[in-house]
Amino acid sequence: MRTTFAPMEGITIYCYRNAHHKIFGEGIDYYYTPFLSVYKHHAIKKRDMREILKENNLEKGVKIIPQIMTNKADEIIWALRELKSLGYDEINLNMGCPVGTVVSKDKGSGMLREPDRLYEIFSEVFEDEITEQVKFTVKTRLGLSDPHEFENILPVLNKFPFDEVIIHPRVRTQMYKGTPDMEVFRWAYENSKNPVGYNGNIFTVDDYKKIVEEFPDLEEIMIGRGLVSNPALAREILTGKEINIEEIKEFMDELQVRYKDEIFSDDSIMHKMKEIWFYVGNLLEKKDGTEADTYIHKIRTSKNVSEYRNAVRTVYKECRIKNSL
Ligand SMILES: Cc1cc2nc3c(=O)[nH]c(=O)nc-3n(C[C@H](O)[C@H](O)[C@H](O)COP(=O)(O)O)c2cc1C
Repeated sequence: MRTTFAPMEGITIYCYRNAHHKIFGEGIDYYYTPFLSVYKHHAIKKRDMREILKENNLEKGVKIIPQIMTNKADEIIWALRELKSLGYDEINLNMGCPVGTVVSKDKGSGMLREPDRLYEIFSEVFEDEITEQVKFTVKTRLGLSDPHEFENILPVLNKFPFDEVIIHPRVRTQMYKGTPDMEVFRWAYENSKNPVGYNGNIFTVDDYKKIVEEFPDLEEIMIGRGLVSNPALAREILTGKEINIEEIKEFMDELQVRYKDEIFSDDSIMHKMKEIWFYVGNLLEKKDGTEADTYIHKIRTSKNVSEYRNAVRTVYKECRIKNSL
């Protein structure tokens, strides 16, 4: 069973992945790229290309799975060929994105609207020999508004030899809220003809263990927000070694430096760092055991780089990891 870092647009960009792999790579088998948009004239956006260029993924031992977003068979086939020629041997298709502008184009979770159309798309894709030359996986939700829609979607997926079907057991209307539907997930786990991966709401070592106990034959456990909030979560799962505040500082410093490869103004880098603090802040409390919210709020609302630096310095000085005495 492999443990992977979920694709997260705007967050798990190559700068982040490289910084994370350097400091907290232990326990992560693969990193997904955020979704790469495929254009109808068979091209990948320039910015998205930077996610997959080898020169941006040279951190020692880092393993990447590109994720693509398109709903056209010819574009999927083209992308599989293109990514193979760039040296990738596994590619994932996004069938889960819930964002309105994506779904309205029948992409992401919008692909789940019509199982018959899904059948047509994959019939054409799997006729192409490229599907024998690379691993091809999908990441899907259970449906658009009702988890039982999956009872019509899984039989379609079962008709094709996907290397894996990764299931985030929510529906599109839930976005990232509410609880994953573990009953429908169990049905899918028991009835999928292809290997199954699980994704959703793993925030602690116990959450992970519970999934492994209940679903011992999973191919993969994919973690997103849990890893952004606690970048050492995969290491804790693997070795039991918990994160400390010095490591957070080391990671955030590394991240700030790495962002310079992609982002050219200090203000924009600060903005990006604030986004990460939104997640990482959850790990911290004041040294007296009270909430650190006001300190994290100061970081998030700082108006310039010098205010940001001061707010961050205060956090390192005054905070500790929750429940660590
Ligand atoms: C900010 C953000 C960006 C995301 N971007 C992507 C993406 O590019 N591709 C994708 O398949 N899922 C994306 N997701 C969904 C996550 O990969 C994952 O399925 C979801 O967060 C549930 O898993 P978690 O509870 O472990 O975070 C994104 C989620 C968030 C919160």
